[in-house]
Amino acid sequence: MRPTWQPEMYDPHNVGPTWRPHMATGLEWQDQRHQELLNKLDELCQAVQYYAGASVVNGLLDFLDDYSQSHFRQEEQYMARNKCGSCAEHQQCHELFKVQLHDVRALYASQGPSTLVILKLQTWLRRWLAMHILTLDRHLTDSASPEQQSRPQP
Ligand SMILES: [Fe+2]
Ligand SMILES: [Fe+2]
Repeated sequence: MRPTWQPEMYDPHNVGPTWRPHMATGLEWQDQRHQELLNKLDELCQAVQYYAGASVVNGLLDFLDDYSQSHFRQEEQYMARNKCGSCAEHQQCHELFKVQLHDVRALYASQGPSTLVILKLQTWLRRWLAMHILTLDRHLTDSASPEQQSRPQP
């Protein structure tokens, strides 16, 4: 029988979509927030393995509320300063994320931390990692100075 999930059991080097050097943009403030998001998703994946995904949902949603405000604002200000060409498209994706977060929150309010809520969070955040962090976010430095463009290889 599996032991009961405890937050102290979270191992940032275990299963799930852990941080890899090729994910970095080279902007420390940005990479730090992306790592935090990945760690939160990884924590959810690990908790699910112990049938305890429900115990981390509320904290994850609170984290996402803050992330979708403070981190997106940081990126949008950076893009505006550097006159980034894809700023409008990027900003639209951020707005879509906020709408999706609102929808997951609404589901959570009606069902609590159900299996459906947990599955939606896992699927949605994995997709966000692939479709946003590893694509649009990685191009954030394209219009920046050369030293800001350094990007470690995998
Ligand atoms: Fe972004
Ligand atoms: Fe980002």
